[in-house]
Amino acid sequence: MEKLKKEVGKKAAEYVESGMIVGLGTGSTAAFFVEELGRRIKEEGLKVIGVTTSHATSAQAKALGIPLKSIDEVSHVDLTVDGADEIDHQLNGIKGGGAALLMEKIVATYSKDYIWIVDEGKLSTHLGSFKVPVEVIPYGSEQLFRQFKEVGYAPTWRMSTSGEKVVTDMQHYIIDLHIDKIEDPATLAHELDCTVGVVEHGLFNNMVKKVIVAGTDGVRIIEK
Ligand code: A5P
Repeated sequence: MEKLKKEVGKKAAEYVESGMIVGLGTGSTAAFFVEELGRRIKEEGLKVIGVTTSHATSAQAKALGIPLKSIDEVSHVDLTVDGADEIDHQLNGIKGGGAALLMEKIVATYSKDYIWIVDEGKLSTHLGSFKVPVEVIPYGSEQLFRQFKEVGYAPTWRMSTSGEKVVTDMQHYIIDLHIDKIEDPATLAHELDCTVGVVEHGLFNNMVKKVIVAGTDGVRIIEK
């Protein structure tokens, strides 16, 4: 699995050219992309500015010597490369397994190009096998949790290994929805967008046009 993640991370780094402002995703797959970018900067003299999507990625990028700016310090992002948790045939996806969905969605929104890198186990006919992470304001979140339970979304709190509710980089909680089979991702996204107390959710519908997939037969590219 690590080998597949590394392959797509390296492949995605080939799309980066000198002068670009690059969005750096979060997670174990995106980490290989960031690592390869660091290598290219060091060994090839590649000149880029990175815009990170989590504190964890910021720490990794800094350690690799990648120059960074925040999303508010740049006019745009040329290309963002990130992982994903589940992707359907229309290239809608679920993200946020690593609790970074809010920053990830913001950076992706201001990116001219956006690529996901995954292993083939992430591809699915229908979204929903993976939980839908919902980032919520702590105030009123117990009410929201009850509301999700009543409509049958089988919510669970995202918990840390020490048994506390996970607090995201942006100081919110995560409620994971277990829906199993999402018939219409657009309708669910709209419903969550309109729910008071929800800051953002992990449905990334119609945002990506290119996915680099690694499988046992090698690396392939799915394009819309
Ligand atoms: C982080 O919040 C996520 O959106 C990740 O990009 C996603 O969970 C994929 O992570 P892995 O590459 O570790 O599977």
